[in-house]
Amino acid sequence: MKIKVKSPGRVNLIGEHTDYNGGYVLPCALDLTIDFLFEKKLSVSYVESDLGYSMSFDVNSAFKKSNNHWENYVLGSVNELKQIKAKLNNFSCSIKSTLPSGAGISSSSALVCGLIKGLSELNEIKLENLDIINLSRNVEHKYIGLLGGIMDQYTILNAKKNTAILLNCEKLDSKFIKLEFKEYKLLLLNTNVQHNLANSEYNQRVSECKESMQIINRLCKKNYTNLSQVNRLDLSSSKEKLGETLYKRVSYVLNENQRVINSVEFLKNNKLKEFGRLLYESHFGLKNDYEVSCKELDFLVEYSMNYNQILGSRMMGGGFGGCTLSLIKDSLIDKFIKEVKQEYFSKFKRKLNPIIANLNHGIKMSLI
Ligand code: GLA
Repeated sequence: MKIKVKSPGRVNLIGEHTDYNGGYVLPCALDLTIDFLFEKKLSVSYVESDLGYSMSFDVNSAFKKSNNHWENYVLGSVNELKQIKAKLNNFSCSIKSTLPSGAGISSSSALVCGLIKGLSELNEIKLENLDIINLSRNVEHKYIGLLGGIMDQYTILNAKKNTAILLNCEKLDSKFIKLEFKEYKLLLLNTNVQHNLANSEYNQRVSECKESMQIINRLCKKNYTNLSQVNRLDLSSSKEKLGETLYKRVSYVLNENQRVINSVEFLKNNKLKEFGRLLYESHFGLKNDYEVSCKELDFLVEYSMNYNQILGSRMMGGGFGGCTLSLIKDSLIDKFIKEVKQEYFSKFKRKLNPIIANLNHGIKMSLI
């Protein structure tokens, strides 16, 4: 028996850097996937990927961190499962991907969720979606060192076709929001920029948010457990003690949460222009207040403002590179891509990769 798993990437319509602050996000799954084929083996485990990676190891030997970043996703996933079942089966796993990596569309979460889903089945470990989500997040925290939130894993496990998930990341309750963009499409532009400080800058934002919350709790005698609960009065009375940077971070988080709520209303009522405006606002919040953008992303968003048929655009994901997301009229796509590619190349001497985001269901598994 072989096990096939298809694990998708994610796009996030709006609600960036709100997940680890207990706020709202509005993500969907892409039709681009990482595909796995698992099979039990007797002695050694072997994993190979069409990206040129391969590794062999014994699942039951003690965990040892590898110097190869990619291998730690595999070793970390195996080690997390070993906390549940001490002895696992060796296996082979062949991985093929249509999901670009380093583009801010969650290829790493798709990889880890796919590994955990397939390996748990192979070892008869019964896991609920939420268990897989938590284990996958542990892998990124403990073995990769990225203190990410829960949005990517939640989306990969739960998404439905042409639907966004309005997720409250504190309560982990969610609503499905059916999407109809009519003559508009979601277009991703991959900057091909992968900032090597992205992980440390990301973790720094996580700790700035924690610190802000502690300051506000102390000053206002409150017991907030995440930044999204903070009310605006408490924020303004803490302004001086927070200082300029932390004040900007908290303001961004509160504004972005509100933008998610407003976006859902606009989307439900087919107010795409109004939704598009929130995409732009989100970008400028991420650029100026949260400071996680970069010049390539800013250029693309600002360039798209020259076109009326683009209703909105913003950087997407953790930032410092990766993709922009734009809501663009179907009939403009070819012309826009041609023009923006040229402009981008002449400015940054880099290729720009467009991806039309078709929204699909979450992870699927089948036995063959
Ligand atoms: C990365 C993280 C997510 C989320 C986004 C920013 O994708 O993995 O948890 O924080 O950045 O919204």
